[in-house]
Amino acid sequence: MAKVKTTFFCQNCGSQYAKWQGQCTSCKEWNTIVEEVIQKPEKNDWKTPTSTKNRISKPLTINAIDASEDARLNTFDNEFNRVLGGGIVPGSLILLGGEPGIGKSTLLLQIALKLPFKTLYVSGEESQKQIKMRAERIHANNDTCFILTETKTQNIFKQIEALEPDIVVVDSIQTLHSDYIESSSGSISQIKECTTELIKFAKETATPVILIGHITKDGNIAGPKILEHMVDTVLQFEGDRNHIFRILRANKNRFGSTNEIGIYEMQGSGLKEVSNPSAILISKKDEELSGNAVASTIEGLRPLMIEVQALVSTAVYGTPQRSATGFNAKRLNMLLAVLEKRAGFRLGAKDVFLNITGGISVDDPAIDLAVVAAILSSNEDEALPKDYCFAAEVGLSGEIRPVQRVEQRILEAEKLGFSTIFVSKYNTITLKNTSIKIQCISKIEDLVDFIL
Ligand code: TYD
Ligand code: MG
Repeated sequence: MAKVKTTFFCQNCGSQYAKWQGQCTSCKEWNTIVEEVIQKPEKNDWKTPTSTKNRISKPLTINAIDASEDARLNTFDNEFNRVLGGGIVPGSLILLGGEPGIGKSTLLLQIALKLPFKTLYVSGEESQKQIKMRAERIHANNDTCFILTETKTQNIFKQIEALEPDIVVVDSIQTLHSDYIESSSGSISQIKECTTELIKFAKETATPVILIGHITKDGNIAGPKILEHMVDTVLQFEGDRNHIFRILRANKNRFGSTNEIGIYEMQGSGLKEVSNPSAILISKKDEELSGNAVASTIEGLRPLMIEVQALVSTAVYGTPQRSATGFNAKRLNMLLAVLEKRAGFRLGAKDVFLNITGGISVDDPAIDLAVVAAILSSNEDEALPKDYCFAAEVGLSGEIRPVQRVEQRILEAEKLGFSTIFVSKYNTITLKNTSIKIQCISKIEDLVDFIL
């Protein structure tokens, strides 16, 4: 019997070792090195077609390279197109990561069923019947999407050769296995090998491949970090499973920007694109409630009106509690310290809870002023006029700092019927004839004067 060949892999960075050791020398993580069985008989993965086999790549000047044939594939999903930078680039490998149950399979099945050209949806997780049930749930059907339940890459390539699809979707990379590696599916060496085979196929045939990737409990895509280096685009599907909104972000994109987001709503019948998110994220109520404030933020290139809710109450225990959902807790503590020092609020003995509605999380610093306003409003138990909104960053000395693209934020607020927007005095605004009142302030004390 042939000797079984094994190698040691770091589960974190994918480095390879000849023997076990406690710490990975390349990424310095402890206890991440695991033994995996490998075996390399002669290769017979994706076969390069003979027409291109003997072609040798020649150096070309940048002007001589013809890029025109690389027209992007329209996915007929505006949000998905937007995040990719205008559609799928032929021959690209896209990796979609996200928590279990967030809707990755639903999103890609939905897109696959909308495409008017030949699509192969390979699933290693669900049976054809289960996929059919899902398709019925999202009321989609078409005659050009083929469903294959298979996990062995060699068999998948056999089907691809017969079918010649224009796009391939794989759910998920962790379920695939290749004959050339003996370790089990989902192991580092399997993931690496299967991805390499798929990349070879994608680049040689200019067929785009979309992979679903599981994520680990700290939110990274399971498998070696090099998986993310190997693919062209890494998308992240996120959201709170108990809320209906889902956000699609590009963490890496070789063919477009990474600051665009796509917003979806998970409904009983699949994911619906949200083309006007602002109008949905702010609750329309007649009553004015204390502790609510609306921020005009920008995600990617789109303005987004977001509601911030704060609850300030007397601390029951010795140490006050601070908790923030959808907002950085450290930043909340900083804003509370600024309020305490600059506006004389005794928040040290108060519990403060902060929530961004809709289950989304915001990084835009322009939300600071709305957070401060919501906290002040809850602390005084006095509601803010519901047609006020805010767009400014708050500095450590209590100064109201300018934010980028303030005019776009003002126009969005105007469009949604807000009467007043609070911005920094240091923003230069050239807008004329706006029906919204632009209130410029320079420090936190000014805000206190205006709203309380
Ligand atoms: P799924 O796509 O299976 O998630 P993932 O592949 O990321 O693990 O989505 C599963 C969740 O989506 C499940 O909890 C039910 C919900 N869902 C809907 O709310 N509406 C629908 O139409 C579908 C298909 C799923
Ligand atoms: Mg799934």
